Amino acid sequence: MLVNMKQVLSIADAGGYAVGSFNVYSYETIRGVLESARKNQIPAILAFGERYLENMDFETAAAMVKSESKDMDIPFALHLDHCTSLENVYRAIKAGFTSVMYDGSALSYSDNVANTAKAVEVAHACGVSVEAELGSLASGEHSHEGSTADEEIYTSPDQAEDFVRRTGVDALAVSIGTVHGLYKGEPNIRVDILRSIKKQVTVPLVLHGGSGTPENVLRECIRHGIRKINVNTEISVFTVEHIKELLKETTPHLSVLSLQQINAIKQVVEKYMLMFR
Ligand code: 13P
Repeated sequence: MLVNMKQVLSIADAGGYAVGSFNVYSYETIRGVLESARKNQIPAILAFGERYLENMDFETAAAMVKSESKDMDIPFALHLDHCTSLENVYRAIKAGFTSVMYDGSALSYSDNVANTAKAVEVAHACGVSVEAELGSLASGEHSHEGSTADEEIYTSPDQAEDFVRRTGVDALAVSIGTVHGLYKGEPNIRVDILRSIKKQVTVPLVLHGGSGTPENVLRECIRHGIRKINVNTEISVFTVEHIKELLKETTPHLSVLSLQQINAIKQVVEKYMLMFR
């Protein structure tokens, strides 16, 4: 059943695990995530990023998710990922999203606090949860979220405490060394920073840049308060490679390609869903 992110994350918190947040922007990605959650009976978050508005509008994404999840008995949320415009936050809420990420991480600290607090006020009045971000992730390979100009700015634990208190957010995305996209070298994830943040902040913490992060690191992050992990790039890279292989041998009907995509998407989504438990 469609619930808000706060509800999904409180189930994860009680169980001591993290919920996978998987990016969706097409019929195939929506079906891939919903079918994985249904099959494994694991709560999930479908994350539609503001940058995918060219692929689909908010209303279509919400309608498709609702129609494809009619028989879902497992809780899931429809989340707006990385949204830098308050107007789009309000549009997504109006369209039926149950969770939004207002991303003011590129703004000054005071503007990030002020805009996030505005998003929280409107979202909470509608029963919608809010995630925000402090600090900034660097960009890896094949990333759709970041740009090469992105630099790593670790989240300050003291600022995190102040930010959560002043904005009233339901979840906080932290920057501790993961990257958006695939790692160019050896990942250096600062679990020590995560531990300090966790000591100061009571809301669930979110890890962006899940693709390619080593399993042992992810497990340690979960032990130290990460309750939502975002995965995008690996789903795309794996699925495109799968389709490329297929096209070497045959020229299938487009409808067959669509089903092949769903199967490939499910393989990556299920791998991470089970890992996060
Ligand atoms: P990856 O593309 O590195 O998996 O990161 C996804 C993400 O953080 C979405 O917000």
